[in-house]
Amino acid sequence: MSHPFERPRRLRNSATIRNLVREVDLSPDHLIFPLFVTAGHNRKEPISSMPGVYRLSLDRLPEVLKEAWDVGIRSVLLFGIPDRKDETGTEALNPDGPVPQAIGLIRATFPGFVVMTDICIDEYTTHGHCGLVCGEKIENDPTLDILSDMALLHAQAGADVVAPSDMMDGRVLAIRKKLDHHAFTDTLILSYAVKYASGLYGPFRDAMMSGPQFGDRASYQMDYRGTKDALREARLDAEEGADILMVKPALAYLDIIARVADSSDLPVAAYQVSGEYAMICAAGQNGWIDQDRVMIESLTAIRRAGAQMIVTYFAVSAARLLTSRP
Ligand code: PBG
Repeated sequence: MSHPFERPRRLRNSATIRNLVREVDLSPDHLIFPLFVTAGHNRKEPISSMPGVYRLSLDRLPEVLKEAWDVGIRSVLLFGIPDRKDETGTEALNPDGPVPQAIGLIRATFPGFVVMTDICIDEYTTHGHCGLVCGEKIENDPTLDILSDMALLHAQAGADVVAPSDMMDGRVLAIRKKLDHHAFTDTLILSYAVKYASGLYGPFRDAMMSGPQFGDRASYQMDYRGTKDALREARLDAEEGADILMVKPALAYLDIIARVADSSDLPVAAYQVSGEYAMICAAGQNGWIDQDRVMIESLTAIRRAGAQMIVTYFAVSAARLLTSRP
């Protein structure tokens, strides 16, 4: 034993010292709040696998926005649930659809929010896939047009950030070109660059009624048994013009977040997905874990891994806890 031997515990001796030496912070500024917007009136439908999360019609949105604003949340990510679905996801391009309308409403009522929108057609298609289908094949290039038109529609409605989650090759470039061509050079692209085919999206698909009707998403989302594909997707999306790179899911993919953060000079986002949320809530409701504590711990760990921002269904409860702390 060398003398004096090391006593790492000295730096843990009091809360104040621990606060002095901590390396990572978590604040409402880092959190992005996902919202499921549906057609219709006076709808606030609970999702059984996601306690505290609702499908909201436009008229019920302001109460939720206010709650979020009041605890310091400043960014929202919108998902649309259309009242009609078809083979090609036509409703994704309806200017009177739930998402363009919600963007307008937020712009008018809470102009301080950064408004982000999910760009993908799975919620709008009868087959539930993220691309156009031909037989059982997911067609890449024909899907790029609808995705870039959808991004343009959201930008025109007033979105600050468009977030393609479909995993088609080349979609960031297609969207960037389309936006620039229409003078939306300031609209940011937050790319779901590194999106794994994961069992953790289950509750989201319940919420959106968007599960694939045949096959699975393995031909476009990534295989979780690797890292190289993640670095490649991140590099390609950066080259195509993404402003922010997202890794998804988060907690089982902290190594990937760290690798992407190290290898890219773009900001990195992480998505704490529906299954992660559901697991923490379920264990919390059973009294098996302290839900608040694990919520903060998991979000902070995602920050520690290297994510600047986190999309999380815990956004409002975490922000409330963080701002109420003495
Ligand atoms: C696709 C999309 C999905 C999620 C976000 N965007 C579902 C999927 O790929 O099946 C999942 C988010 C979550 O699980 O919370 N539009």
